[in-house]
Amino acid sequence: MSDRNHASARPASKTLLNLGNLPPKQMNFATDGQTASYPRTASRVDPNNPPWPAYRGYHEYSFAHETMGKRLPTILGNAVNDVILTLNQESDEERIVDLLSCLDRMHVLMKELQDNKQLRPIIDDEEGDVPLWNKAIAKYFRGKDFMNAPWLFAEAYKYRRLHECFSLSRYWRDYDVFFRQKCDTFSRSGTAVFELSTRFAVPQKLDANLAHEETQRINKLLFLELTQVSLWGNATDLSLLINMTEEDIKKIQSTGGEHLASTEKNILGNHLNRIWDLVANLKGGRIDIVLDNAGFELYCDCVYADWLIQSGIAREVHFHGKRIPWFVSDVTRKDWNWLLNVMTYSFLFPDASEAEMQSLRQLGKRWKQYVAEGKWIYEQHPFWCTGYTFWSISSEAPDLFHHLCESDLVIFKGDLNHRKLTYDCQAPTSTPFDVAIGPLASEDGAPPVVSLRTIKSDVVVDVPLDLSQRLDKEEPGWRISGKYAVVLLSDEDRRKKMAAKSAEGQQ
Ligand code: F6P
Ligand code: MG
Repeated sequence: MSDRNHASARPASKTLLNLGNLPPKQMNFATDGQTASYPRTASRVDPNNPPWPAYRGYHEYSFAHETMGKRLPTILGNAVNDVILTLNQESDEERIVDLLSCLDRMHVLMKELQDNKQLRPIIDDEEGDVPLWNKAIAKYFRGKDFMNAPWLFAEAYKYRRLHECFSLSRYWRDYDVFFRQKCDTFSRSGTAVFELSTRFAVPQKLDANLAHEETQRINKLLFLELTQVSLWGNATDLSLLINMTEEDIKKIQSTGGEHLASTEKNILGNHLNRIWDLVANLKGGRIDIVLDNAGFELYCDCVYADWLIQSGIAREVHFHGKRIPWFVSDVTRKDWNWLLNVMTYSFLFPDASEAEMQSLRQLGKRWKQYVAEGKWIYEQHPFWCTGYTFWSISSEAPDLFHHLCESDLVIFKGDLNHRKLTYDCQAPTSTPFDVAIGPLASEDGAPPVVSLRTIKSDVVVDVPLDLSQRLDKEEPGWRISGKYAVVLLSDEDRRKKMAAKSAEGQQ
């Protein structure tokens, strides 16, 4: 038996080996996801690995958790109720049976969500976006479930699955479970709607004899306020304010000058003046608005776009909507048509005066005229309804990227678009907007990009660290309340070109 206490049992002293033929040592090994330092370099970023850590449903401290666990099942439950309402009003048996099969699929989806099932491929419903979705699932999210996939992808996936419940049917392919709600909220927004229509129905006419500086001064003031109208119009997003009263809506929507002045202090990252400097130099330019919500927000965006045309700043405005019902309140083509027609022809506001109704009709007619003349163009690229962030536009939707590069300014509205611009990850709040939006700022030819966003979810960029830390401490709900906003501009490519030009001039 060996004696562990004997001197000979001590570990042998070091033996030096002469290993001259081994390959050289390498030190540049990638660390695993857990210990990686952030931000990830662009080549290591992919939809499951954003530049900074992703928000995921299982992060109990995040809004992702609340959304995946509670809000999405509630939204789906409300959607089921909407379908039942429709079912109760249907008389044709084939259509009834067909709609019942949609309901069955909705129940399956609800169960999968509640049981936190893995994300399965989208069934081929002959829609053009199926390959985009299934490529992403196969490449980045195989085996991932609703809670451990990044929140952005899992949430978007839920809306595509909801659409699939109908797209597989015979009669209900285009059914929008949110349409009733969207119309209803606009019809309860009368006060703010007339506040704007009575001011803007008569086209702006500035005295032609005014000095250029004076015209620019007036235009600047209007621009700053109308940008805020479009910004704060985003506060009434239905997915968050499901059961609001008419009073609640009024509070959020007040559009008077005083209110706007007081809300400017709630814009935590504020590039309004820089945006004006860019816009002031446009004459007959092209502006693109990547829309967010239907109803009141869309109406505010149209008031804004109307003025951009009238002032001569824009010759055409391209509106980008969603191809399918999306994140409850987002604009589809049907919502777009509904708004313009309801303004022009209908009797949605029984308490309104004749003058108010006239102002709305006048505005509606003018907007339809813009559409007829090609000054306003409504578009709906399938890419907007995928789970990809906008870091992937040029790789996943190159045609759309080229199209946007033709624009003089692309304005992204709302919270979801902001999440997609910034990869919806835990970037430090001090991260400059240019950095946070990656390729959309840095790629050659990228257009100037603006984000008009009331803050309704965790990701926040271009806000000083001391300010965000103070708010985290004093108002822990500030990232989801919609009380605060950011108005951010990236015009990297334009600045690079201007710098190159002036360098050329100096030679
Ligand atoms: O479900 C959360 C969310 O995706 C958040 O982005 C935001 O709270 C809401 O839905 C959508 O907001 P918006 O209409 O401004 O994009
Ligand atoms: Mg929305």
